[in-house]
Amino acid sequence: MNSGKELSKQLFRMKDLGAILAELHDPAHRLKKALGAFDLVLLGIGGIIGAGIFATIGTAAAGDLARPGAGPALMLSFVITAMACGFAALCYAEWAALVPLSGSAYTYAYASFGELVAWIIGWDLIIEYGVGSIAVAISWSAYFNELLHGFGIHLPAWATMDFRTGFEGFQRASEMLKDGVPFEQLPSGLQSAWAAVQSAPHLVGFPIIINAPAFLVVISLTILLVIGIKESSRFNSIIVGVKLLVLAFFVFVGVFYVRPENWTPFAPNGFAGIKTGAAIVFFAYIGFDAVSTVAEETRNPKRDLPIGIIGSLIVCTLIYVVVAAIFTGLIPYSVLTSSLAHQKAEPLTLAMQYVNVDWAAGIIAVGAVLAQTAVLLVLLLGQPRIFFSMARDGLLPPVFAHVHPKFKTPHVTTIVTGLSVALFASLTNIEEMVDLTNIGTLFAFSLVCMGVIILRVKEPQRHRPFKVPLNPVVPLLGIASCIFLMTGLPAVTWIRFIIWLLLGLAVYFSYGMNHSLLHPGHPHFPQHKK
Ligand code: ALA
Repeated sequence: MNSGKELSKQLFRMKDLGAILAELHDPAHRLKKALGAFDLVLLGIGGIIGAGIFATIGTAAAGDLARPGAGPALMLSFVITAMACGFAALCYAEWAALVPLSGSAYTYAYASFGELVAWIIGWDLIIEYGVGSIAVAISWSAYFNELLHGFGIHLPAWATMDFRTGFEGFQRASEMLKDGVPFEQLPSGLQSAWAAVQSAPHLVGFPIIINAPAFLVVISLTILLVIGIKESSRFNSIIVGVKLLVLAFFVFVGVFYVRPENWTPFAPNGFAGIKTGAAIVFFAYIGFDAVSTVAEETRNPKRDLPIGIIGSLIVCTLIYVVVAAIFTGLIPYSVLTSSLAHQKAEPLTLAMQYVNVDWAAGIIAVGAVLAQTAVLLVLLLGQPRIFFSMARDGLLPPVFAHVHPKFKTPHVTTIVTGLSVALFASLTNIEEMVDLTNIGTLFAFSLVCMGVIILRVKEPQRHRPFKVPLNPVVPLLGIASCIFLMTGLPAVTWIRFIIWLLLGLAVYFSYGMNHSLLHPGHPHFPQHKK
């Protein structure tokens, strides 16, 4: 059995940062340094704008059964979250410039804190990427259905709704019908939930209610990713252009229909609502950290990474605040609060339809579907690569590190990710998935902030091309604001998150710890020994 000292040596064994950095100077492994600050800002916007603005602002403004909404003060929620992300972004910039490797937070942690923390971050990133994909797929499906409606195609209600929304809506509808409310007077969301349950086919006595488009889009993208798809900077720029045009369109058309009285009361649920809103819309900002993964391809990382990370954050904040202002000016708070979860999942369309600009809904739906396809693709691309890196380091079974002989992609992890995401996306509701993604990502961000403080003490002499100003104040503010936002998430999300981390620790202690390439018994050990 391990003595305490040996165990702690194992848990904190780390990859040698100097050796990893030396590899960067090996011409055989050097990537082409082609990206400048502007490319990075575009890349950031590409990864950031997606389901957050196209889907979560409905719930953030209106709240749900368990929590209050921000109301028109949604604009303030966006500003508060931007500040929290700003602190974290500065810390990411210091890390990315110091360790310009594509593995992002998982690699930073392995190189500086040791294996256990690296494992925890890697496991936690599954939530950011894997669960984030589920949320984006659900939102994608809502807008896709809207698009189909525009073409006169109506999929059956049972095939476009997740099981929970269907059942909860059905129960609420049943209660209202029992109270004598005529069916035609039920909110339209409740009518569709009722129709979904009534018309659903049955399997061994159970009605099948499934979000089929969400399932199918994930499966299709997974097939593409296995075959091998190259996300080029050009493709990204086009999609970024479409996203910005569609949001600009929403703003410039919407502004004519805004009724300023909808902005009063500004904060119907006071600060509690603003805080909950901030915790929800955090999802809209996830993605700026992806900029750090192209550190190796950046011409001047010292200058360009901070510009790319902070710049994309500033641009998105401005866009978000304006969109939030128009959105809450179009649709009264009371109308939003009576909408069902899956209606709130397409808030911009809901707002346009409310002011009878139905033709605009189609344009928004096209933009939302395209924008979210790109975000989904990036998330579904990122997740398997994290599994892959962890398997290559021996922390997950070697089968996860297999590369397809013909396509040269990590096909095993891509398929495992795709099937799991598709299954959950077809059965769960977007709010739960957004909450879980947010808590996981906020946790990862706070570890990245903490890492800056620790490494400054541990390796003060190391050359840092970019330094977080006012260390440790800014990283501490980053940690505090991430924790603040985490406390805005519901208890059930915390419980799910803690269970996830405990499950991760169980996997590490029963497998990863003993199979790690850094384990003394591993055949490759001498190569990696410091
Ligand atoms: N920020 C990304 C989105 O909103 C995850 O879709």
